[in-house]
Amino acid sequence: MTLSRRAALAVLAAVGFAAAPAVAQTTITIQHPLPSSSHYGAGAAALKESFERATGGRYRVNIQRNDNEREVVESVQIGTVECYLGSTGPVGNFVPAVRVLDVPFLFRDYAHARGVLDSDIGQQLLGQFQARGLVGVIWLENGFRHLTNSRREVNVPTDVRGLKVRTMENQVHMRAFSTLGALPTPMAFSELVPALQQGTVDGQENPIPVIVANNLNQVQRYLTLTGHVYSPAILICNPAMMQRLSQADRAAFMEAARAAQQANRDKVTADENSGIEELRRRGMQVVTQVDTAAFQQALAAAFAQYERELDGATLRRIRDWR
Ligand code: PAF
Repeated sequence: MTLSRRAALAVLAAVGFAAAPAVAQTTITIQHPLPSSSHYGAGAAALKESFERATGGRYRVNIQRNDNEREVVESVQIGTVECYLGSTGPVGNFVPAVRVLDVPFLFRDYAHARGVLDSDIGQQLLGQFQARGLVGVIWLENGFRHLTNSRREVNVPTDVRGLKVRTMENQVHMRAFSTLGALPTPMAFSELVPALQQGTVDGQENPIPVIVANNLNQVQRYLTLTGHVYSPAILICNPAMMQRLSQADRAAFMEAARAAQQANRDKVTADENSGIEELRRRGMQVVTQVDTAAFQQALAAAFAQYERELDGATLRRIRDWR
């Protein structure tokens, strides 16, 4: 073959390659409220890696930060964002059955919480999302919530009286804080730091991984390890997006969701192990000895109300889970 003929073939091959139809790529956007270095960031990154690899580049997972959780769930419901990865904070306003998980002192420890969420109890709750125009894909984790504030050391329940505490937009949590005599102030996480800086609120409550990842030590001096409530997280997706996935791609998506759950829980465990020392090092005053029974007693009126208003049978199944 002459040189010019070989060159011409090379040009044709290049043109042909460029003109070949590219494999169509579909983007799935997942929004979550925390930095990429957080336990949610770890979960979202694991999902992205697993799903993009399994689908050979036909899907791209676009991870975005949005620290207004209610807004993200609304966007998933109307379909402008495909998936939400966040706490159950605002989720009870969309799927009321989920509120049972937000009851204070319901879960004994991480093993209890993870076991219940992975059991048929967790599956049944995920099954409630469909009727509300959402798909509950899998349970993830935020962690046990602890109280921080800028006013005083909290040692006993009466120390909470009169504190203006930012809560999530969650009726179950708000009732607990008002029962303790605090002034619960619900707001999106996006508004929290300015509210603490301006003194609109004195305190807030969040798990150690959140306090560490968001440097809340810069605006809060006192931390008490109340562990007053377990905060589940969840991956919620838009039903139309899930239906568009082929059977094989849906299986790959579920596999990716399980990878996300594992990475997220591993990061919570790691942050729990190192976070308290890290917050002390950053200057927080930490109360570790908490009389849990005294807090539970102080919440007696709230517990009676939860029993009346929430699904008592599911609450008992969760408490009895071994
Ligand atoms: O406090 C909250 O709103 C939530 O715990 C957070 C930090 C957004 C994580 O889900």
